[in-house]
Amino acid sequence: MGEHRHTFRGYIAMLVVIKPFRGKGIATELVTRSIRVMMESGCEEVTLEAEVTNKGALALYGRLGFIRAKRLFRYYLNGVDAFRLKLLFPRSAINPSLLMTTNEDGSHVHINRGSQEGSSQFY
Ligand SMILES: CC(C)(COP(=O)(O)OP(=O)(O)OC[C@H]1O[C@@H](n2cnc3c(N)ncnc32)[C@H](O)[C@@H]1OP(=O)(O)O)[C@@H](O)C(=O)NCCC(=O)NCCS
Repeated sequence: MGEHRHTFRGYIAMLVVIKPFRGKGIATELVTRSIRVMMESGCEEVTLEAEVTNKGALALYGRLGFIRAKRLFRYYLNGVDAFRLKLLFPRSAINPSLLMTTNEDGSHVHINRGSQEGSSQFY
């Protein structure tokens, strides 16, 4: 988790379920739990990259509400493009006491923002 362009953002770097255990909902459970922790920690969004050819990952994250925010050309060393996937949290789902902003010196401070309409399956 960290500040990125004035947004406190969670990032999923790597997710693998070993073959004999796939298709049992393990990835869904792991990602859902991670997202909940990120949201409770004040993140406003979660991002990750997945190969455009990775149907399993794209279906998994699509079901969880991630959108395809950007196509990154030849993102991987094998020359394959990536989709940057993004999950945005409605402001009302974020505990206002956890919202952060960054000072000019790089330090983080909490801010209190008004709530907006919206809901999240992770709330
Ligand atoms: C992608 C991966 C993490 C999914 O793990 P998993 O535990 O099998 O996933 P789940 O059982 O939670 O699946 C949830 C949903 O994702 C989708 N999904 C998962 N694997 C899929 C596949 N191979 N093809 C199509 N859809 C798939 C389905 O919609 C599935 O729901 P359903 O079973 O009701 O149809 C696993 O296949 C894996 O480790 N792959 C190799 C590494 C990888 O690609 N990681 C992601 C990098 S971004």
